[in-house]
Amino acid sequence: SESVEQMIERLCVKIPDYPEPGVLFRDLTPLFADAAGFRRTIDALVDAFRGQFDYVAGIEARGFLMAGAVAYAAGVGLIPVRKAGKLPRETFREEYVLEYGSAVLEIHTDDVPRGARVLVLDDILATGGTLGATAQLLHRAGLHVAGFGLVMELTDLRGRSRLGGHRVRALYRV
Ligand code: PRP
Ligand code: MG
Repeated sequence: SESVEQMIERLCVKIPDYPEPGVLFRDLTPLFADAAGFRRTIDALVDAFRGQFDYVAGIEARGFLMAGAVAYAAGVGLIPVRKAGKLPRETFREEYVLEYGSAVLEIHTDDVPRGARVLVLDDILATGGTLGATAQLLHRAGLHVAGFGLVMELTDLRGRSRLGGHRVRALYRV
């Protein structure tokens, strides 16, 4: 039978020159739209870190898709890591570099007890800027990064090297 890795490969659509010339965009919406594909993806992420985390953190926007389902399946709470200006109370903020310009991610400062182990979830690891900024946010909140769970890793971009020795599990590496 098909492995989760094969399922991701089959259900990921490659779009050349999107969003700009020279970029090969990997679109996971067909994987999410496939009931078995989505379930197997979530189960594989839960299995990879079983017993190792007390909360999950999901990164806006695509990471929310993983985080809500993993939190429910594992029976833990969820920390939304949000883009700038969306959270109404006191936040920690981290600016990170994008290919062109920069962006800001934020978390509330006091939703989760210090010392908790947090599994960070997102769809794709590319340069690692997004996950690196998230690790900084969690660190500032006194939280422990239990690891990073991804559906896909674009290995050419060497994002893993920016993640400081934390455990990284990508279900499909390309
Ligand atoms: C994409 C993707 C990851 C990030 C990976 O998010 O969902 O979060 O880029 O890139 P990096 O490793 O180089 O940081 P994007 O910021 O495009 O926004 P979205 O999730 O809201 O679509
Ligand atoms: Mg994203």
